[in-house]
Amino acid sequence: MKLDISVKAGKAPSSDLNAAERLADLASADMRRVDALILDRMGSPVPLIPKLANYLVEAGGKRIRPLITLATARMLGYEGDAQLKLAAAVEFIHTATLLHDDVVDESDLRRGRKSANVVWGNAPSVLVGDFLFARAFMLMVDAESLPALHSLSRAASVIAEGEVRQLAAAGDVNVSEESYRAIIEAKTAALFAAAAEVSGIVSDCTPDEIAALDRYGREIGLAFQLVDDMLDYGGLSATLGKKTGDDFREGKVTLPVALAIARADDGERAFWTRVIADNEQTDTDFARALELIRKHGALEATLDAARTHAANACDALARFPDNVWKTALTNLAEFVVERAH
Ligand code: IPE
Ligand code: IPE
Ligand code: MG
Ligand code: MG
Repeated sequence: MKLDISVKAGKAPSSDLNAAERLADLASADMRRVDALILDRMGSPVPLIPKLANYLVEAGGKRIRPLITLATARMLGYEGDAQLKLAAAVEFIHTATLLHDDVVDESDLRRGRKSANVVWGNAPSVLVGDFLFARAFMLMVDAESLPALHSLSRAASVIAEGEVRQLAAAGDVNVSEESYRAIIEAKTAALFAAAAEVSGIVSDCTPDEIAALDRYGREIGLAFQLVDDMLDYGGLSATLGKKTGDDFREGKVTLPVALAIARADDGERAFWTRVIADNEQTDTDFARALELIRKHGALEATLDAARTHAANACDALARFPDNVWKTALTNLAEFVVERAH
């Protein structure tokens, strides 16, 4: 079936929208169909399931991953509609991981609301997360592409590996940049990579083209998580628009901390050992951590790494034809880094 993509034609993008919002605007006809699929496939005769799932879904979220699937499919001129089910599956996998992640991280805030684990408790969050994973697999099967099913199911297992790897590394002050990178590549970049790759798969792209799409997604995913980890320390600006310090309190050594530890003197190292390895934190320790991170330029260095990955993502698109979708995907890579400010 051919999709109507003329809806937004001729509508000048409003300059006060960010690149993710502009992409959402460009892809709105496709996204409406994906949202309808999401709502439909969340349904269950067990009332708590749609109630809890919808609580999280209606809170919004940026929908970056399904937008990547939709936009890459359009960039490639794909004329089928399998990408809609795949995009919905991608968002289901993401939503399921968020439900599980907030239990694991004992987080109380998600998408500006109390998280589901706070409202309903851990057990319902875990079980509804499982339900959403299962529904994601049904959507993938319905998309009728075994290689796309392979790509996304591998991503789902890699995400779980990343979360377990991170859990095992909590409290370890000696986490290297390489092991940090392996964690974020698995827990975050793998789904971005698959979100882009599946479009190439259903569009019958060559293996090289599919690899380039995977690379676009992976690189933008790495940039995304690096910036997210920076934002946990307030980003570059002094105005903190989001709750900070969760990673610190959990003893998670993300890149800003790993760099500050690598550059620490003996006194500073003792501080990090106490707060991360011994998990002995007082009320003023987060401020001290922030001071050390800033002193060693670790936020700027993290942002530089994010910039490099975003640039790699843009490079990966070079081989594809120029069109509005490619421009939007390029701008999205830039937006991911701009979030840091
Ligand atoms: C949150 O992802 C989880 C991370 C990988 C940091 P998003 O920031 O994309 O979450 P939503 O969907 O927009 O809420
Ligand atoms: C989010 O990771 C979950 C996955 C990427 C699987 P984080 O724990 O780092 O992100 P937030 O801060 O809860 O969104
Ligand atoms: Mg978390
Ligand atoms: Mg987490």
